[in-house]
Amino acid sequence: MTSANIRPASDYPPGGDAFRHRHLIGIAQLTPWEISYVLDAAEQWVDLNRAGAAKHDDQLAGLTIINAFFENSTRTLLSFEIAGKRLGADVVNMHAAQSSVKKGETLIDTAMTLNAMRADAMVIRHGSSGAVQLIADKVDCPVLNAGDGRHEHPTQALLDALTIRRRKGKVEGLTVAICGDVLHSRVARSNILALTLLGNEVRVVAPPTLTPPAMERMHVTTFTDMDEGIRDADVVMMLRLQNERMDGAYLPSAREYHALYGLTPKRLEKAKPDAIVMHPGPMNRGVEIDSIVADDPVRSTITEQVEMGVAVRMACLDILTRRKRGVAGWN
Ligand code: NCD
Repeated sequence: MTSANIRPASDYPPGGDAFRHRHLIGIAQLTPWEISYVLDAAEQWVDLNRAGAAKHDDQLAGLTIINAFFENSTRTLLSFEIAGKRLGADVVNMHAAQSSVKKGETLIDTAMTLNAMRADAMVIRHGSSGAVQLIADKVDCPVLNAGDGRHEHPTQALLDALTIRRRKGKVEGLTVAICGDVLHSRVARSNILALTLLGNEVRVVAPPTLTPPAMERMHVTTFTDMDEGIRDADVVMMLRLQNERMDGAYLPSAREYHALYGLTPKRLEKAKPDAIVMHPGPMNRGVEIDSIVADDPVRSTITEQVEMGVAVRMACLDILTRRKRGVAGWN
């Protein structure tokens, strides 16, 4: 694991030109330079986080961040909360299950309510693709997408890119196999966008029923055979079978899915000997991934991904609030 690949600040355009966006809605809006700017900014927080609670920064002191989650979450919600608090912000969480959403309030009315409370940033997760953009268009503060439907999950792709970069020393010129329920996965979509943009070969490995149409337009190669798809890969990224988004019979059974697409130690032998194994969590152990692979202390990066999630979210909250905080050059 190395920080050696951080670019010097002088490589980037000055001030706000290094990251030109008011919101973080998707990887689709970003340039490769903007991605690497976020990754470099995140690197500095990794060591600080490891150093423990006493070393927190307070550059977001006095700011209020609202986490509005209209869909369940463990790691994304907690890591955004921890990220905001480590930077000194006041963080408020709104869980849709306990909010007026359950009383029939529309998304726009909820957004206007949150806006009236004068948050300095909002982090939003929603079950519908496009919902986060809709809210961003209506409110006065930066909005960060924490996952919208099947559309995008940009901070997940950024934390995955940081994990790969630290493990492999680079995040370009690698072969990455993204395997499983690609059809329902915003994680897959954001990762395909980020990893192709950074110059990696991306393969998508999924049963035909879980492969989105027109994948070639995203500059990836599709495989239905798992052994072929992960052959000589540097990175094997597994996805959760998203049963809650399936409204029909996509698969015969979990047992058959495991037989054909589950990541077993034997199957992993097809990838490069030093291939890493990733999973965004939550995992279905014994379905898309065997426990022995998920818990492999050398090859699995699953807990490191969670750790990088805090650092990446600290970087995103810092960067997106710079205009508001009047940081020099960020007008
Ligand atoms: C993912 C999500 O919610 O999109 N999880 C996460 O954010 N770590 C993936 C999933 O739910 O399978």
